[in-house]
Amino acid sequence: MLTGTVLRPDCKTPVVGATIDFWHCDHAGAYDIKTPDEKIAPENYRFRAMAQTDASGRFMFETIVPGRYGIPPGLEGFEQFAGQTRPAHFHLTVTHPIYLPLTTQVYIKGDPFIAKDPWAMHSKLAFTLRKGSATAPSTGSFDVVLANRPGQRRS
Ligand SMILES: [Fe+2]
Repeated sequence: MLTGTVLRPDCKTPVVGATIDFWHCDHAGAYDIKTPDEKIAPENYRFRAMAQTDASGRFMFETIVPGRYGIPPGLEGFEQFAGQTRPAHFHLTVTHPIYLPLTTQVYIKGDPFIAKDPWAMHSKLAFTLRKGSATAPSTGSFDVVLANRPGQRRS
């Protein structure tokens, strides 16, 4: 159970009605869409969801812990990392009419593959996954801070 709050650039005020486009791979590290050019019917989407933040700027996604996968060969700019294992991660794009869109990845603290991953190694976007039980899900929480668009007044 992943929860969090989308915040204004002041890092305090919630953003109501932000859209979060959320996606990740399955437990074995496979995505429903294998290449950037592949098109599949929406009914075949797997591990994708969209949500809007509520009146408190909160969001919630209930899902699995995604598996890890290898960086494919020939990925432009990342050729030297081909075959290296990526840490488990969640992708998200957060949009709102007033703020700059944000596309990023979120990691799970303690994943040993974060240290050498070209995307994760410099990221501060890792949350603590608290183990659940037979009757309660594992939980994690992270907040998202949106930036002003260029030329926009501070808010
Ligand atoms: Fe990914």
